[in-house]
Amino acid sequence: MAVGFFLVRTRHHRQREIKQTDRMKNKRVLIFDTTLRDGEQCPGASMNLREKLEIARQLERLKVDVVEAGFPVISEGDFTAVEAISKELKGPTIAGLARCVSGDIDAAGAAVKPAGRRGRIHVFLATSKIHREFKLGKAEDEIVRLAVKGVKQAKGYVDDVEFSPEDASRTEPEFLVRICRAAVDAGATTVNIPDTVGWTVPNEFEELIRQLYESVPEFQSGRAIISVHCHNDLGLAVANSLAAVRAGARQVECTMNGIGERAGNASLEEIVMALTTRKDVFRGFKCGVKPKEIVRTSRLVARLSGLSVQRSKAIVGENAFAHSSGIHQDGILKKRETYEIMDPVKVGWGKTELPLTKHSGRAAVLSRLKHLGFKMTDDDVSAIFARFKEIGDKKKFVYDDDLAALVEGHITIVPETWMLEYLSVSSGSSTVPTATVRLSRAGSKEKEATVYQDAGVGDGPVDAALKAIDRLTKVRGRLKDFSLRGVSQGKDALGEVTVKADFGDGNLVTGRGASTDIIEASARAYLNAVNRFLNAKQRTGKRKAVS
Ligand code: KIV
Ligand code: ZN
Repeated sequence: MAVGFFLVRTRHHRQREIKQTDRMKNKRVLIFDTTLRDGEQCPGASMNLREKLEIARQLERLKVDVVEAGFPVISEGDFTAVEAISKELKGPTIAGLARCVSGDIDAAGAAVKPAGRRGRIHVFLATSKIHREFKLGKAEDEIVRLAVKGVKQAKGYVDDVEFSPEDASRTEPEFLVRICRAAVDAGATTVNIPDTVGWTVPNEFEELIRQLYESVPEFQSGRAIISVHCHNDLGLAVANSLAAVRAGARQVECTMNGIGERAGNASLEEIVMALTTRKDVFRGFKCGVKPKEIVRTSRLVARLSGLSVQRSKAIVGENAFAHSSGIHQDGILKKRETYEIMDPVKVGWGKTELPLTKHSGRAAVLSRLKHLGFKMTDDDVSAIFARFKEIGDKKKFVYDDDLAALVEGHITIVPETWMLEYLSVSSGSSTVPTATVRLSRAGSKEKEATVYQDAGVGDGPVDAALKAIDRLTKVRGRLKDFSLRGVSQGKDALGEVTVKADFGDGNLVTGRGASTDIIEASARAYLNAVNRFLNAKQRTGKRKAVS
């Protein structure tokens, strides 16, 4: 009996191995980055066009395969960003998201048009029972009909169409197989299986992906591929994605630093480094991402999205390669691999370049900017050089991180801008904190900039400065979050402040500012949020609620 059982299990395993060998023929795992779409859906993470372009350029350097640049129908800002990124990037495929709704697909088709053959439309429609009954009020047949219609309409714009059955992991497997087949028959070349609410666990997801792979002949022949898109509500997004790869998924959707809706998405750096580091487990699998660009991308995304990375975050956190215990330090000195499974230099933690000083000229600053990968116009360089000189007067060395903070501060400047001209604060243990603030308001072609001045008192110097800004700008923001971090090293390091403020419409607006003086950095950050808020209010095509 025991022997019989053993034989059955061995045969079963062998069959599975043969199927796995088959599946392993194509071992290229595509990295689909959705930092600019799902990542940006994180409250307070919304970015302006310039910021999105900088991130997109860096994603191109990182060599991701697909950049999901936005959801073109939801706002003019998203449309313009997808269109601009489609025009500029030459390497990756550019995807625009759309519901299976005609207007969405038309908008996505128009936005990705400049990408030509590298344009992709990603259509989605919920398939789980709970979404069918409570959100959509539609039966299975109707859902299949709409999905097929959406894929076919998207095919009218691009060859490369991706379909996502939203909440796939909670969809009945038989219905999921049915809708995947229908989408592929209608022309979808990628079928993405989202774990929309972060519900699944690795072995369950692996089985689901295996079942789909085995039920749709096009997945086996390679005419279409399975993608996965996992959310992190149970902290399993990366584990689930990797389990899916072992079962036949050949595209992983992820975001830098794992940012995204609620608890976020699978983190790109963790997926890439797991595939790279554990080659023994992921034998033969390849992805095209350049690990050396990981840290730089992580920092750029953290600064521009305003979502800082926790110190102990794998791979990109400040402590990811810090060894404090004496035993570990001793081991590392004897042989790095005793306590390090990855080489920090290979993921972009590296030696610091020689810092600039106040004596450095414009050419030296420009050359560092180029080295850091920023694409700057002459006007940009002049503005950054002016700030560099101010900072250089206050601190001895200006490091790459300081310079990057200045650039990022500069590209977050939005049109219609209140600028900080002067700030003076008095505070102390027995003084009422008071701030005097002078702001100028950007003029137009016909009108010169105007300068305004006022003073405020508050619970502390930051409060006093922000109150004075409120009086001058006539907007009132409630500060929901305030964080301060030292950008580089030394007591004279630049302080970078990130604030999240609510200006009364329930949306969180992020602002950032940097200075050697943390009160000034706070005022700059708050003013940046005020400008973003005013700019968003002015823009037509405000973000519509999307179900
Ligand atoms: O989480 C999700 O289901 C999504 C889809 C739009 C792919 O983001
Ligand atoms: Zn998602």
